[in-house]
Amino acid sequence: MKEIYSADAARYDDSQALYRRCGRSGVMLPKISLGFWHNFGGADPYERSRAITHYAFDHGITHFDLANNYGPPYGSAEETMGNLMKDDFGPFRDELFISTKAGYDMWQGPYGNWGSRKYLFASLDQSLRRMNLDYVDLFYSHRYDPETPLEETLQALVDIVKSGKALYIGISRWPLEALKAADQYLKARDVPLLIYQGRLNLLDREPQTEGIPDYCADNGIGFISFSPLAQGLLTDRYLHGIPEGSRMAHARFLKSDKLTPELIAYLQRLNSIATTRNETLAEMALAWILNQKGITSVLVGASSTSQLEKNMKCVHAEPFSDSEI
Ligand SMILES: NC(=O)c1ccc[n+]([C@@H]2O[C@H](COP(=O)([O-])OP(=O)(O)OC[C@H]3O[C@@H](n4cnc5c(N)ncnc54)[C@H](OP(=O)(O)O)[C@@H]3O)[C@@H](O)[C@H]2O)c1
Repeated sequence: MKEIYSADAARYDDSQALYRRCGRSGVMLPKISLGFWHNFGGADPYERSRAITHYAFDHGITHFDLANNYGPPYGSAEETMGNLMKDDFGPFRDELFISTKAGYDMWQGPYGNWGSRKYLFASLDQSLRRMNLDYVDLFYSHRYDPETPLEETLQALVDIVKSGKALYIGISRWPLEALKAADQYLKARDVPLLIYQGRLNLLDREPQTEGIPDYCADNGIGFISFSPLAQGLLTDRYLHGIPEGSRMAHARFLKSDKLTPELIAYLQRLNSIATTRNETLAEMALAWILNQKGITSVLVGASSTSQLEKNMKCVHAEPFSDSEI
């Protein structure tokens, strides 16, 4: 018989330090959110996924981020979320902020990818069924579609909110000009853009170079950074090579040729700065992001509760800035 989950009564004791307002909205998000891209699929042990989410929720991490195609196989991370809703989180639905996305390939044929109204509506219906939810808190366009008219994608997002299947709208990986157009379009229809999801970390500053977090900050839109640890590179995991069981050892999204001698040297330098600050590299790397203009939350992944436990320390870390590198 499954152990019955009872959430920690002290889970909001650190609220003051943990939550930030998302843009100019009414929503507070935890500075650390939990992503389901890896470690929550059908191929992963359910009890481990369960333990990670319990640890998260017990420590005030109220935001779980998914997408239609997280797994593997596609859809299975959402099924895990559905099982968690049945097994554990049903009584806590109103304390959770759950997001999902559509935009990448999900099913065969012309309607299972990109940004058409047809795809977005069908995908969200499927996601809700897999997750055992009546609505998601946040629905994202997962990527910019250069072929579909912007108005079609954006109007679908507006109508999804109006249908009650999502409370808020976000976009991920859209270029700046399309972000600006989306912001105007959605504001004019009283469904303001809640948040932008982009990859920002100490190794990848492209959104900043493009001006995206600045635009978000100046226009009341939140920004959440995905892969804030560069998939584990900004931790102590790869300082001395590629350990067994790591994402680089088994997943196709983090290739070993990325780990050049120059990168290892840079990571070791960052690690020694972290040591002098009495922090782990991961903690310092997350604190750097949280100290940048316009950032609402860092969206971490974890393959164990102990990783999450270590990473959560960044909530109390001293701000870390570029001048220290
Ligand atoms: N919008 C988009 O297009 C997009 C794209 C990518 C991701 N995302 C979102 O962002 C979330 C996070 O992405 P991510 O998983 O790449 O984030 P990440 O936090 O950069 O990397 C997480 C991985 O780093 C390792 N790790 C984490 N903490 C560690 C620690 N303290 N010590 C050692 N290793 C540690 C673990 O890998 P090991 O397996 O090696 O232990 C863990 O799975 C995703 O789940 C998803 O929700 C969105």
